[in-house]
Amino acid sequence: MSKTDLEAKLEAAGQSHLLRFYDELPKEQQKQLVDQINVFDMDRVCRVFKEYAHVKPDDVSKLTPITADHYASVSTQSKDDMDRYWQAGLKAIAHGEVAVIVLAGGQATRLGADRPKGTLSIGLLRERDSLLDLQAAQIAKLQKIAHTAYPDQPSIIQWFVMTSMVTSEPTEAHLDTVVLPNEGLDRKNVHYFSQGEMPCFTVDGKLMLQDKHRLATSPDGNGGLYRALQPLLPKMSELGVKYVHVYCVDNILCRVADPHFIGYCIEKNADCAAKVVEKIDPFEAVGIVCAVDGVPRVVEYSEITPELAQLKDSADPTKLAFRAGNIANHFFTVDFLKNVCSVALPFHPAHKKIPYVDDSGELINPQKPNGIKMEQFVFDVFLHSKSFYVWEVPRDLEFSPLKNADVAGKDCAATCRQDLWRVHHHYVKAAGGKVLPEDNPDAEVPFRVEIDPSLSYAGEDLEPLVSGKTLQSPLSLN
Ligand code: UTP
Repeated sequence: MSKTDLEAKLEAAGQSHLLRFYDELPKEQQKQLVDQINVFDMDRVCRVFKEYAHVKPDDVSKLTPITADHYASVSTQSKDDMDRYWQAGLKAIAHGEVAVIVLAGGQATRLGADRPKGTLSIGLLRERDSLLDLQAAQIAKLQKIAHTAYPDQPSIIQWFVMTSMVTSEPTEAHLDTVVLPNEGLDRKNVHYFSQGEMPCFTVDGKLMLQDKHRLATSPDGNGGLYRALQPLLPKMSELGVKYVHVYCVDNILCRVADPHFIGYCIEKNADCAAKVVEKIDPFEAVGIVCAVDGVPRVVEYSEITPELAQLKDSADPTKLAFRAGNIANHFFTVDFLKNVCSVALPFHPAHKKIPYVDDSGELINPQKPNGIKMEQFVFDVFLHSKSFYVWEVPRDLEFSPLKNADVAGKDCAATCRQDLWRVHHHYVKAAGGKVLPEDNPDAEVPFRVEIDPSLSYAGEDLEPLVSGKTLQSPLSLN
Protein backbone atom coordinates (compact mmCIF):
# COMPACT_ATOMS: atom_id res chain seq x y z
CA MET A 1 0.00 0.00 0.00
CA SER A 2 1.40 3.42 -0.95
CA LYS A 3 1.88 6.09 1.68
CA THR A 4 -0.96 8.12 0.16
CA ASP A 5 -3.35 5.17 0.36
CA LEU A 6 -2.30 4.54 3.92
CA GLU A 7 -2.80 8.19 4.84
CA ALA A 8 -6.29 8.09 3.37
CA LYS A 9 -7.12 4.89 5.22
CA LEU A 10 -5.89 6.28 8.54
CA GLU A 11 -7.61 9.59 8.04
CA ALA A 12 -10.92 7.84 7.42
CA ALA A 13 -10.39 5.96 10.70
CA GLY A 14 -9.40 9.14 12.60
CA GLN A 15 -5.89 7.71 13.20
CA SER A 16 -3.66 9.97 11.05
CA HIS A 17 -1.40 10.73 14.04
CA LEU A 18 0.17 7.27 13.67
CA LEU A 19 2.26 8.61 10.78
CA ARG A 20 3.48 11.75 12.55
CA PHE A 21 7.09 10.52 12.80
CA TYR A 22 7.00 8.64 9.49
CA ASP A 23 9.11 11.05 7.42
CA GLU A 24 11.98 11.08 9.92
CA LEU A 25 12.19 7.27 10.19
CA PRO A 26 14.80 5.15 8.40
CA LYS A 27 13.33 3.13 5.49
CA GLU A 28 13.34 -0.14 7.43
CA GLN A 29 11.33 1.36 10.32
CA GLN A 30 8.92 3.01 7.90
CA LYS A 31 8.24 -0.43 6.51
CA GLN A 32 7.82 -1.95 9.99
CA LEU A 33 5.27 0.70 10.90
CA VAL A 34 3.30 0.30 7.68
CA ASP A 35 3.35 -3.49 7.96
CA GLN A 36 2.11 -3.35 11.54
CA ILE A 37 -0.70 -0.94 10.70
CA ASN A 38 -1.73 -3.16 7.81
CA VAL A 39 -2.01 -6.19 10.07
CA PHE A 40 -5.01 -4.59 11.72
CA ASP A 41 -8.40 -4.26 10.11
CA MET A 42 -8.85 -0.58 11.06
CA ASP A 43 -12.60 -0.70 10.63
CA ARG A 44 -12.91 -3.64 12.99
CA VAL A 45 -10.52 -2.17 15.53
CA CYS A 46 -12.27 1.20 15.65
CA ARG A 47 -15.68 -0.48 15.75
CA VAL A 48 -14.60 -2.56 18.73
CA PHE A 49 -13.58 0.59 20.59
CA LYS A 50 -16.81 2.42 19.76
CA GLU A 51 -18.97 -0.51 20.70
CA TYR A 52 -17.28 -1.69 23.88
CA ALA A 53 -14.91 0.89 25.40
CA HIS A 54 -17.58 2.70 27.37
CA VAL A 55 -20.31 0.10 27.82
CA LYS A 56 -21.83 -0.08 31.26
CA PRO A 57 -21.80 -3.48 32.96
CA ASP A 58 -24.95 -5.48 32.22
CA ASP A 59 -27.84 -5.41 34.61
CA VAL A 60 -27.17 -8.46 36.75
CA SER A 61 -30.09 -8.07 39.14
CA LYS A 62 -31.71 -11.28 37.87
CA LEU A 63 -28.85 -13.34 39.16
CA THR A 64 -29.37 -16.92 40.28
CA PRO A 65 -26.93 -19.66 41.29
CA ILE A 66 -26.49 -22.58 38.89
CA THR A 67 -29.23 -25.04 39.88
CA ALA A 68 -28.29 -28.04 42.00
CA ASP A 69 -29.03 -30.53 39.19
CA HIS A 70 -26.28 -28.89 37.10
CA TYR A 71 -23.82 -28.40 39.94
CA ALA A 72 -21.68 -31.10 41.50
CA SER A 73 -19.14 -30.77 44.25
CA VAL A 74 -16.37 -33.34 44.57
CA SER A 75 -16.80 -33.12 48.34
CA THR A 76 -20.28 -34.70 48.18
CA GLN A 77 -19.76 -37.32 45.46
CA SER A 78 -19.83 -40.99 46.41
CA LYS A 79 -16.77 -43.10 45.70
CA ASP A 80 -18.80 -45.04 43.12
CA ASP A 81 -19.71 -41.85 41.26
CA MET A 82 -16.12 -40.62 41.33
CA ASP A 83 -14.85 -43.96 40.04
CA ARG A 84 -17.42 -43.99 37.27
CA TYR A 85 -16.49 -40.44 36.16
CA TRP A 86 -12.80 -41.35 36.23
CA GLN A 87 -13.43 -44.41 34.06
CA ALA A 88 -15.52 -42.42 31.56
CA GLY A 89 -12.82 -39.75 31.30
CA LEU A 90 -10.07 -42.33 30.99
CA LYS A 91 -11.93 -44.20 28.28
CA ALA A 92 -12.28 -41.00 26.23
CA ILE A 93 -8.55 -40.33 26.70
CA ALA A 94 -7.70 -43.86 25.63
CA HIS A 95 -9.80 -43.49 22.49
CA GLY A 96 -7.92 -40.30 21.57
CA GLU A 97 -11.04 -38.18 22.05
CA VAL A 98 -9.53 -35.67 24.48
CA ALA A 99 -7.44 -32.58 23.73
CA VAL A 100 -6.18 -30.01 26.17
CA ILE A 101 -5.62 -26.33 25.45
CA VAL A 102 -3.30 -24.32 27.62
CA LEU A 103 -3.85 -20.56 27.68
CA ALA A 104 -0.31 -19.21 27.65
CA GLY A 105 -0.63 -15.89 25.87
CA GLY A 106 -0.85 -13.52 28.83
CA GLN A 107 1.63 -10.69 29.36
CA ALA A 108 2.16 -11.52 33.05
CA THR A 109 2.46 -7.84 33.92
CA ARG A 110 1.99 -8.42 37.67
CA LEU A 111 4.72 -11.04 37.74
CA GLY A 112 7.06 -8.86 35.73
CA ALA A 113 9.38 -11.69 34.61
CA ASP A 114 11.45 -11.50 31.46
CA ARG A 115 10.15 -14.88 30.23
CA PRO A 116 6.66 -16.37 29.96
CA LYS A 117 5.21 -17.74 33.20
CA GLY A 118 4.97 -21.29 31.93
CA THR A 119 8.71 -21.51 31.26
CA LEU A 120 10.03 -20.19 34.60
CA SER A 121 11.68 -22.33 37.24
CA ILE A 122 9.38 -22.54 40.27
CA GLY A 123 12.05 -23.73 42.72
CA LEU A 124 10.88 -27.31 43.16
CA LEU A 125 13.09 -30.26 44.10
CA ARG A 126 12.45 -31.64 40.63
CA GLU A 127 15.14 -30.64 38.15
CA ARG A 128 12.79 -29.59 35.35
CA ASP A 129 10.39 -27.49 37.32
CA SER A 130 8.51 -25.12 35.04
CA LEU A 131 4.72 -25.13 35.03
CA LEU A 132 4.82 -26.51 31.48
CA ASP A 133 7.13 -29.32 32.64
CA LEU A 134 4.62 -30.37 35.27
CA GLN A 135 1.74 -30.20 32.79
CA ALA A 136 3.61 -32.30 30.23
CA ALA A 137 4.47 -34.89 32.86
CA GLN A 138 0.80 -35.18 33.83
CA ILE A 139 -0.24 -35.65 30.21
CA ALA A 140 2.39 -38.36 29.77
CA LYS A 141 1.24 -40.10 32.95
CA LEU A 142 -2.43 -40.05 31.93
CA GLN A 143 -1.54 -41.46 28.53
CA LYS A 144 0.24 -44.33 30.31
CA ILE A 145 -2.67 -44.97 32.68
CA ALA A 146 -5.07 -44.99 29.71
CA HIS A 147 -2.78 -47.28 27.72
CA THR A 148 -2.60 -49.76 30.59
CA ALA A 149 -6.38 -49.82 30.88
CA TYR A 150 -7.00 -49.93 27.10
CA PRO A 151 -3.89 -51.45 25.44
CA ASP A 152 -5.53 -51.56 22.00
CA GLN A 153 -6.35 -47.88 21.89
CA PRO A 154 -4.10 -44.94 20.88
CA SER A 155 -4.19 -43.25 24.34
CA ILE A 156 -2.97 -39.93 23.05
CA ILE A 157 -3.91 -36.54 24.44
CA GLN A 158 -3.50 -33.80 21.84
CA TRP A 159 -1.94 -30.72 23.46
CA PHE A 160 -2.82 -27.34 21.93
CA VAL A 161 -0.69 -24.48 23.19
CA MET A 162 -2.05 -20.97 22.76
CA THR A 163 0.64 -18.31 22.89
CA SER A 164 0.77 -14.65 21.83
CA MET A 165 3.19 -12.42 19.96
CA VAL A 166 5.44 -12.01 23.00
CA THR A 167 5.18 -15.50 24.47
CA SER A 168 5.24 -17.68 21.35
CA GLU A 169 8.97 -17.91 20.67
CA PRO A 170 10.22 -18.58 24.22
CA THR A 171 7.31 -20.91 25.02
CA GLU A 172 7.78 -23.02 21.89
CA ALA A 173 11.55 -23.14 22.38
CA HIS A 174 11.13 -24.27 26.00
CA LEU A 175 8.65 -26.96 25.02
CA ASP A 176 10.63 -28.21 22.01
CA THR A 177 14.06 -28.30 23.57
CA VAL A 178 13.42 -29.04 27.25
CA VAL A 179 9.92 -30.18 28.07
CA LEU A 180 8.80 -32.55 25.32
CA PRO A 181 12.02 -34.57 24.93
CA ASN A 182 12.38 -35.02 28.69
CA GLU A 183 8.80 -35.67 29.70
CA GLY A 184 8.25 -38.29 27.01
CA LEU A 185 5.74 -36.50 24.81
CA ASP A 186 5.72 -36.82 21.06
CA ARG A 187 6.13 -33.46 19.28
CA LYS A 188 3.60 -34.48 16.65
CA ASN A 189 0.81 -34.42 19.24
CA VAL A 190 1.60 -30.85 20.29
CA HIS A 191 0.10 -27.96 18.32
CA TYR A 192 1.14 -24.34 18.69
CA PHE A 193 -1.04 -21.43 17.73
CA SER A 194 -0.94 -17.76 18.53
CA GLN A 195 -3.79 -15.52 19.60
CA GLY A 196 -4.41 -12.11 18.07
CA GLU A 197 -3.22 -8.69 19.20
CA MET A 198 -5.28 -5.55 19.67
CA PRO A 199 -3.90 -2.04 19.52
CA CYS A 200 -4.05 -0.02 22.76
CA PHE A 201 -6.24 3.10 22.81
CA THR A 202 -6.22 6.45 24.53
CA VAL A 203 -9.46 7.05 26.42
CA ASP A 204 -10.79 8.94 23.40
CA GLY A 205 -10.11 6.14 20.97
CA LYS A 206 -6.76 7.07 19.40
CA LEU A 207 -4.34 4.23 18.77
CA MET A 208 -1.11 4.65 20.73
CA LEU A 209 2.52 4.50 19.55
CA GLN A 210 4.94 2.78 21.89
CA ASP A 211 7.80 3.82 19.65
CA LYS A 212 7.98 6.18 16.70
CA HIS A 213 7.67 3.18 14.40
CA ARG A 214 5.57 0.80 16.48
CA LEU A 215 1.99 0.68 17.73
CA ALA A 216 1.35 -0.20 21.37
CA THR A 217 -0.50 -3.52 21.29
CA SER A 218 -1.51 -6.26 23.68
CA PRO A 219 -2.90 -9.79 23.30
CA ASP A 220 -6.67 -9.77 22.76
CA GLY A 221 -7.45 -11.53 26.06
CA ASN A 222 -7.80 -15.22 26.87
CA GLY A 223 -11.10 -15.17 24.94
CA GLY A 224 -8.94 -14.53 21.86
CA LEU A 225 -8.80 -18.33 22.01
CA TYR A 226 -11.88 -18.75 19.84
CA ARG A 227 -10.80 -16.59 16.91
CA ALA A 228 -7.33 -18.13 16.98
CA LEU A 229 -8.59 -21.70 17.33
CA GLN A 230 -11.13 -21.62 14.51
CA PRO A 231 -8.69 -22.63 11.73
CA LEU A 232 -7.53 -25.60 13.85
CA LEU A 233 -10.97 -27.09 14.46
CA PRO A 234 -11.03 -29.24 11.29
CA LYS A 235 -7.68 -30.70 12.34
CA MET A 236 -9.05 -31.43 15.82
CA SER A 237 -11.94 -33.34 14.28
CA GLU A 238 -9.63 -35.21 11.89
CA LEU A 239 -7.59 -36.30 14.90
CA GLY A 240 -10.76 -37.73 16.42
CA VAL A 241 -10.98 -35.21 19.25
CA LYS A 242 -14.46 -34.76 20.74
CA TYR A 243 -13.77 -33.16 24.12
CA VAL A 244 -11.48 -30.30 25.11
CA HIS A 245 -10.14 -29.26 28.48
CA VAL A 246 -9.04 -25.60 28.55
CA TYR A 247 -6.85 -24.40 31.43
CA CYS A 248 -4.56 -21.52 32.40
CA VAL A 249 -0.83 -22.04 32.26
CA ASP A 250 -0.31 -20.47 35.68
CA ASN A 251 -2.11 -22.82 38.11
CA ILE A 252 0.51 -25.15 39.58
CA LEU A 253 -2.16 -27.46 41.00
CA CYS A 254 -4.08 -27.77 37.74
CA ARG A 255 -5.07 -31.34 36.92
CA VAL A 256 -4.54 -31.33 33.19
CA ALA A 257 -7.14 -33.43 31.31
CA ASP A 258 -8.66 -34.36 34.67
CA PRO A 259 -10.54 -37.63 33.98
CA HIS A 260 -13.01 -36.97 36.82
CA PHE A 261 -14.04 -33.61 35.36
CA ILE A 262 -14.12 -34.87 31.78
CA GLY A 263 -16.00 -38.04 32.75
CA TYR A 264 -18.59 -36.03 34.72
CA CYS A 265 -19.15 -33.75 31.71
CA ILE A 266 -19.44 -36.69 29.30
CA GLU A 267 -21.92 -38.49 31.53
CA LYS A 268 -24.06 -35.36 31.88
CA ASN A 269 -23.87 -34.70 28.15
CA ALA A 270 -22.51 -31.22 28.84
CA ASP A 271 -21.48 -29.11 25.86
CA CYS A 272 -19.71 -26.60 28.11
CA ALA A 273 -18.70 -26.73 31.77
CA ALA A 274 -16.65 -24.89 34.35
CA LYS A 275 -14.45 -26.29 37.06
CA VAL A 276 -14.82 -23.93 40.02
CA VAL A 277 -13.57 -23.54 43.60
CA GLU A 278 -15.77 -22.63 46.54
CA LYS A 279 -15.80 -18.95 47.35
CA ILE A 280 -15.86 -18.57 51.12
CA ASP A 281 -15.13 -14.86 51.57
CA PRO A 282 -18.05 -13.03 49.92
CA PHE A 283 -15.78 -10.14 48.96
CA GLU A 284 -12.91 -12.13 47.49
CA ALA A 285 -11.96 -10.72 44.08
CA VAL A 286 -13.00 -13.70 42.01
CA GLY A 287 -15.67 -13.96 39.29
CA ILE A 288 -18.76 -16.04 40.01
CA VAL A 289 -20.17 -18.69 37.70
CA CYS A 290 -23.94 -18.23 37.87
CA ALA A 291 -26.97 -17.53 35.68
CA VAL A 292 -28.40 -14.19 34.60
CA ASP A 293 -31.98 -14.47 33.42
CA GLY A 294 -31.42 -18.22 33.44
CA VAL A 295 -28.43 -18.04 31.08
CA PRO A 296 -25.02 -19.21 32.34
CA ARG A 297 -22.25 -16.64 32.61
CA VAL A 298 -19.51 -15.29 34.85
CA VAL A 299 -20.29 -12.17 36.85
CA GLU A 300 -17.30 -10.17 38.02
CA TYR A 301 -16.97 -9.63 41.76
CA SER A 302 -17.32 -5.88 41.17
CA GLU A 303 -20.71 -6.31 39.46
CA ILE A 304 -22.45 -8.20 42.25
CA THR A 305 -24.19 -6.31 45.09
CA PRO A 306 -22.91 -6.83 48.68
CA GLU A 307 -26.30 -8.35 49.60
CA LEU A 308 -26.09 -10.99 46.87
CA ALA A 309 -22.41 -11.62 47.52
CA GLN A 310 -23.24 -12.48 51.17
CA LEU A 311 -26.45 -14.38 50.51
CA LYS A 312 -26.45 -17.87 52.02
CA ASP A 313 -27.47 -21.03 50.19
CA SER A 314 -31.04 -21.84 51.27
CA ALA A 315 -30.29 -25.59 51.18
CA ASP A 316 -27.04 -25.23 53.14
CA PRO A 317 -26.72 -21.99 55.14
CA THR A 318 -23.05 -22.75 55.93
CA LYS A 319 -22.25 -21.88 52.32
CA LEU A 320 -22.63 -18.83 50.11
CA ALA A 321 -25.37 -19.05 47.50
CA PHE A 322 -22.99 -17.52 44.91
CA ARG A 323 -19.92 -19.57 45.71
CA ALA A 324 -18.84 -20.92 42.32
CA GLY A 325 -15.47 -19.17 42.04
CA ASN A 326 -14.27 -19.08 38.44
CA ILE A 327 -10.70 -20.33 37.86
CA ALA A 328 -10.78 -20.30 34.04
CA ASN A 329 -10.76 -24.09 33.80
CA HIS A 330 -13.29 -25.35 31.29
CA PHE A 331 -14.66 -28.28 29.36
CA PHE A 332 -16.05 -27.93 25.84
CA THR A 333 -17.18 -30.37 23.21
CA VAL A 334 -15.63 -29.81 19.80
CA ASP A 335 -19.14 -29.36 18.38
CA PHE A 336 -19.73 -26.52 20.84
CA LEU A 337 -16.39 -24.93 19.87
CA LYS A 338 -17.31 -25.13 16.19
CA ASN A 339 -20.40 -23.13 16.98
CA VAL A 340 -18.87 -20.44 19.23
CA CYS A 341 -15.65 -19.93 17.27
CA SER A 342 -17.65 -18.31 14.50
CA VAL A 343 -19.65 -16.03 16.82
CA ALA A 344 -18.49 -12.44 17.44
CA LEU A 345 -17.79 -12.20 21.16
CA PRO A 346 -17.80 -8.95 23.13
CA PHE A 347 -14.68 -7.07 24.21
CA HIS A 348 -14.03 -5.70 27.68
CA PRO A 349 -12.07 -2.49 28.32
CA ALA A 350 -9.22 -2.59 30.85
CA HIS A 351 -7.73 0.73 31.96
CA LYS A 352 -3.96 0.21 32.17
CA LYS A 353 -0.63 2.02 32.33
CA ILE A 354 0.56 1.94 28.72
CA PRO A 355 4.02 3.33 27.82
CA TYR A 356 3.80 5.64 24.79
CA VAL A 357 5.75 8.25 22.82
CA ASP A 358 4.50 11.81 23.19
CA ASP A 359 4.33 14.44 20.44
CA SER A 360 8.02 15.21 20.82
CA GLY A 361 8.88 11.54 20.37
CA GLU A 362 9.89 10.96 23.99
CA LEU A 363 8.97 7.65 25.63
CA ILE A 364 6.67 8.19 28.62
CA ASN A 365 6.12 5.55 31.30
CA PRO A 366 2.89 6.65 32.95
CA GLN A 367 2.42 6.34 36.72
CA LYS A 368 -1.34 5.79 36.49
CA PRO A 369 -3.65 4.23 33.91
CA ASN A 370 -3.60 6.33 30.74
CA GLY A 371 -5.11 4.04 28.14
CA ILE A 372 -7.39 1.15 27.36
CA LYS A 373 -6.66 -2.42 26.37
CA MET A 374 -9.54 -4.30 24.79
CA GLU A 375 -9.80 -7.94 25.83
CA GLN A 376 -12.07 -10.89 25.26
CA PHE A 377 -12.79 -13.38 28.03
CA VAL A 378 -12.71 -17.14 27.66
CA PHE A 379 -15.97 -17.52 29.62
CA ASP A 380 -17.99 -15.25 27.34
CA VAL A 381 -19.14 -18.31 25.37
CA PHE A 382 -21.08 -19.79 28.31
CA LEU A 383 -24.31 -18.11 27.23
CA HIS A 384 -24.26 -20.19 24.03
CA SER A 385 -24.36 -23.43 25.98
CA LYS A 386 -27.41 -25.64 25.75
CA SER A 387 -26.19 -27.97 28.48
CA PHE A 388 -24.02 -26.19 31.03
CA TYR A 389 -22.57 -27.87 34.14
CA VAL A 390 -20.37 -26.90 37.07
CA TRP A 391 -17.84 -29.12 38.83
CA GLU A 392 -16.64 -27.76 42.17
CA VAL A 393 -13.26 -28.96 43.42
CA PRO A 394 -11.37 -28.34 46.68
CA ARG A 395 -9.37 -25.16 46.29
CA ASP A 396 -6.55 -26.35 48.56
CA LEU A 397 -5.96 -29.36 46.27
CA GLU A 398 -6.47 -27.83 42.83
CA PHE A 399 -5.86 -24.11 42.73
CA SER A 400 -2.71 -22.10 43.36
CA PRO A 401 -1.90 -19.61 40.60
CA LEU A 402 1.32 -17.81 39.78
CA LYS A 403 0.34 -14.16 39.38
CA ASN A 404 2.82 -12.03 41.35
CA ALA A 405 6.47 -11.64 42.23
CA ASP A 406 7.49 -13.19 45.57
CA VAL A 407 7.41 -9.81 47.38
CA ALA A 408 3.60 -9.94 47.16
CA GLY A 409 3.61 -13.04 49.42
CA LYS A 410 0.50 -14.26 47.63
CA ASP A 411 -0.09 -16.17 44.38
CA CYS A 412 3.65 -16.14 43.71
CA ALA A 413 6.33 -18.78 42.97
CA ALA A 414 6.91 -19.38 46.72
CA THR A 415 3.21 -20.02 47.44
CA CYS A 416 2.95 -22.19 44.31
CA ARG A 417 5.77 -24.54 45.31
CA GLN A 418 4.68 -24.59 48.96
CA ASP A 419 1.12 -25.47 47.94
CA LEU A 420 2.39 -28.26 45.71
CA TRP A 421 4.56 -29.64 48.57
CA ARG A 422 1.55 -29.43 50.94
CA VAL A 423 -0.71 -31.32 48.52
CA HIS A 424 1.89 -34.00 47.85
CA HIS A 425 2.55 -34.38 51.59
CA HIS A 426 -1.21 -34.90 51.98
CA TYR A 427 -1.12 -37.64 49.28
CA VAL A 428 1.73 -39.45 51.07
CA LYS A 429 -0.11 -39.34 54.41
CA ALA A 430 -3.34 -40.49 52.76
CA ALA A 431 -1.43 -43.49 51.33
CA GLY A 432 -0.24 -44.45 54.81
CA GLY A 433 3.22 -42.86 54.79
CA LYS A 434 4.79 -40.66 57.43
CA VAL A 435 7.20 -37.84 56.72
CA LEU A 436 9.64 -36.41 59.25
CA PRO A 437 10.23 -32.65 59.07
CA GLU A 438 13.40 -31.06 57.73
CA ASP A 439 16.49 -31.11 59.97
CA ASN A 440 17.49 -27.71 58.74
CA PRO A 441 15.95 -24.94 60.90
CA ASP A 442 16.46 -22.49 58.01
CA ALA A 443 14.41 -24.58 55.61
CA GLU A 444 11.77 -22.62 53.71
CA VAL A 445 9.02 -24.85 55.14
CA PRO A 446 9.17 -27.92 57.43
CA PHE A 447 7.94 -30.28 54.72
CA ARG A 448 9.05 -30.38 51.12
CA VAL A 449 7.37 -33.40 49.59
CA GLU A 450 7.27 -33.98 45.87
CA ILE A 451 5.79 -36.86 43.94
CA ASP A 452 6.77 -36.90 40.33
CA PRO A 453 3.70 -36.93 38.05
CA SER A 454 5.23 -39.94 36.29
CA LEU A 455 4.54 -41.91 39.52
CA SER A 456 1.11 -40.62 40.37
CA TYR A 457 -1.27 -38.25 38.58
CA ALA A 458 -3.23 -37.14 41.66
CA GLY A 459 -2.19 -39.21 44.65
CA GLU A 460 -3.24 -42.64 43.33
CA ASP A 461 -1.06 -45.78 43.43
CA LEU A 462 1.23 -44.56 46.19
CA GLU A 463 0.51 -47.25 48.82
CA PRO A 464 3.17 -49.73 47.62
CA LEU A 465 5.76 -46.96 47.83
CA VAL A 466 4.95 -45.25 51.11
CA SER A 467 2.46 -47.23 53.19
CA GLY A 468 3.83 -47.95 56.68
CA LYS A 469 7.10 -46.15 55.90
CA THR A 470 8.73 -43.26 57.71
CA LEU A 471 10.35 -40.91 55.23
CA GLN A 472 12.42 -37.78 55.57
CA SER A 473 11.81 -34.30 54.16
CA PRO A 474 13.01 -33.13 51.66
CA LEU A 475 11.37 -36.06 49.97
CA SER A 476 11.37 -36.45 46.23
CA LEU A 477 9.54 -39.54 45.01
CA ASN A 478 10.40 -40.24 41.40
P1 UTP B 1 -4.32 -13.35 33.66
O1 UTP B 1 -5.61 -12.65 33.52
O2 UTP B 1 -3.87 -13.66 35.03
O3 UTP B 1 -3.22 -12.52 32.87
O4 UTP B 1 -4.38 -14.65 32.78
P2 UTP B 1 -1.66 -12.68 32.85
O5 UTP B 1 -1.20 -12.12 31.55
O6 UTP B 1 -1.22 -14.08 33.12
O7 UTP B 1 -1.16 -11.76 34.04
P3 UTP B 1 -1.34 -10.18 34.25
O8 UTP B 1 -2.82 -9.96 34.47
O9 UTP B 1 -0.81 -9.48 33.03
O10 UTP B 1 -0.52 -9.92 35.47
C1 UTP B 1 -5.02 -15.83 33.13
C2 UTP B 1 -4.63 -16.88 32.10
O11 UTP B 1 -5.05 -16.46 30.80
C3 UTP B 1 -3.94 -16.43 29.93
C4 UTP B 1 -2.71 -16.27 30.80
O12 UTP B 1 -1.57 -16.76 30.13
C5 UTP B 1 -3.11 -17.11 32.01
O13 UTP B 1 -2.93 -18.48 31.75
N1 UTP B 1 -4.09 -15.30 28.99
C6 UTP B 1 -4.39 -14.06 29.46
C7 UTP B 1 -3.93 -15.54 27.66
O14 UTP B 1 -3.65 -16.69 27.24
N2 UTP B 1 -4.08 -14.50 26.79
C8 UTP B 1 -4.39 -13.25 27.20
O15 UTP B 1 -4.52 -12.36 26.35
C9 UTP B 1 -4.54 -13.02 28.57
